[in-house]
Amino acid sequence: MSTDPETILVTGGSGYIGSHMCVELLSAGRQVVVLDNLSNSSMASVEAVQRITQKALTFVQGDIRDSDCLAAIFAEHNIDAVMHFAGLKAVGESTEVPVKYYDNNMNGTLRLVEAMHQAGCKTLVFSSSATVYGLPEQMPITESAPTGAINPYGRTKLMVEEVLQDLFAADPTWRISLLRYFNPVGAHASGEIGEDPNDIPNNLMPFISQVAVGRREKLNVFGDDYPTPDGTGIRDYIHVVDLVRGHMKALEFLRDKPKLTVHNLGTGQGYSVLDAVRAFEQASGVSIPFEITDRRPGDAAVSYADPSKARDELGWEAEYDLHRMCEDAWRWQSKYPQGFQE
Ligand code: NAD
Ligand code: UD1
Repeated sequence: MSTDPETILVTGGSGYIGSHMCVELLSAGRQVVVLDNLSNSSMASVEAVQRITQKALTFVQGDIRDSDCLAAIFAEHNIDAVMHFAGLKAVGESTEVPVKYYDNNMNGTLRLVEAMHQAGCKTLVFSSSATVYGLPEQMPITESAPTGAINPYGRTKLMVEEVLQDLFAADPTWRISLLRYFNPVGAHASGEIGEDPNDIPNNLMPFISQVAVGRREKLNVFGDDYPTPDGTGIRDYIHVVDLVRGHMKALEFLRDKPKLTVHNLGTGQGYSVLDAVRAFEQASGVSIPFEITDRRPGDAAVSYADPSKARDELGWEAEYDLHRMCEDAWRWQSKYPQGFQE
């Protein structure tokens, strides 16, 4: 057996979750090659990852839809496994420009698995989402709950899952892990990397952070008439560092034999929008003005994971609580109010 450290290709590795993944991989002694087209990120995160870990990674600026670029990466590096984060993720935008989403997320993944097949690299961890459960009926959500996405973004995730299932059925020598994330939030404890949305944040936690730091006047709370204790939507927020540690465990789990697995990555604990506002106020010491507005179309009232399959099979459980998620998000946002542009 080779004693060289494993080399992992991280697509989308300069993005929010991918950059935290790179820190975890480098800290665990892996070699890392990042492929990112920088459409929603910047080199500043790659530099920060290397600063945090005091280790170097290989960065390739390129597109996952570019087969030549992929072939060159596989020819040059002895890639043992791929962690596939690259993709577009804004639900609203996906309804306006669906073809862009299908091209990027679907075609991108097809080109990637073709290149992997040609290179004989058949280990893949894929960033799926709890969005594949659509508007779920039963809580907590187990992996066997019915799927059915309700917007183009969600459909790209579901379709990629189905493509990978078909691929595995046709060639069971693949090792594929489909990880369905609940709501990743927070930042690395150093405060050097974190979530840095390009425009107005779509998601709750980055919006709250930007209100706290004075970039936005107030939070709009989308509806207080849901059938929940305080009327606001309930979600399963998970610290991004816990999330990427789940990926390390998933990769380990693929090691013993070829398989395709599906796991929820969540804490199993649901918090309302107002719980999140209060937790952020406590962690930051800053008050968050908010206003109740209409519901956002397509939002579920409640969504939280049953994470027991990941616990039992991967030996993984989330460790950080909501307070810690807010503390770390605030450390990043207050250190870099304008994100990576600073
Ligand atoms: P992100 O936008 O911060 O990161 C994605 C990265 O992929 C960016 O750096 C972007 O530049 C890059 N990219 C996009 N298209 C590319 C292409 N064609 N070629 C090369 N690089 C490309 O998003 P994130 O929050 O880090 O999400 C990572 C993955 O996790 C995505 O696939 C997303 O759909 C999935 N996911 C995210 C969440 C969440 O809440 N953040 C939840 C569920 C699933
Ligand atoms: C959203 C996406 C989902 C995606 C996930 C992670 C939609 C409909 N769903 O999920 O597909 O996988 O992000 O990227 O966009 N909220 C407010 N005010 C805000 C923002 C959010 O009140 O400004 C509320 C929402 O109504 C919801 C909760 O906060 O109840 C969390 O919202 P968000 O962070 O956008 O995540 P999801 O809706 O779970």
